[in-house]
Amino acid sequence: MRRLAIAAALTVLSLDGAGAVEAGADAAAIERGRIIAVAVCGDCHAVMPGAVSPLPIAPPLYFLAEDYPLEAIEEALGEGMVTGHEGMPEILLDPIQIDEFLAFLASVQIRRPPP
Ligand code: HEC
Repeated sequence: MRRLAIAAALTVLSLDGAGAVEAGADAAAIERGRIIAVAVCGDCHAVMPGAVSPLPIAPPLYFLAEDYPLEAIEEALGEGMVTGHEGMPEILLDPIQIDEFLAFLASVQIRRPPP
């Protein structure tokens, strides 16, 4: 059973500036979010649906919502995402980048195929 090892995930329950996930974010914001995802996560995690993670133990970002509420990631990113596992750097984004990143993330979520 995997546990969410994001230290900040359970603390602050609301961040101001949030909302891109619920509201239909526009295509330009999603595109900026994609660029952020490739730049800060893409060395290790698969970003686009169907891609394979460069670092095999890093879960593809398009499956994250199956395991974690995206809000937990939003909170963690706002506080500097720190995870308990090796190889994952601390990541700090500003609130606008977080909105864009999450708008992108929400736009690519798919379900794992049944086993
Ligand atoms: C340098 C490599 C690296 C980068 C960059 C990276 N990650 Fe990770 N991440 C990992 C690895 C490795 C794991 C899996 C570790 C494990 O399962 O033990 C992981 C796991 C995760 C998990 C699951 C946490 C868990 O405990 O199961 C989330 C969520 C996550 N990463 C989000 C992100 C996001 C979002 C970004 C970009 C903002 C990012 N990561 C950037 C390496 C990275």
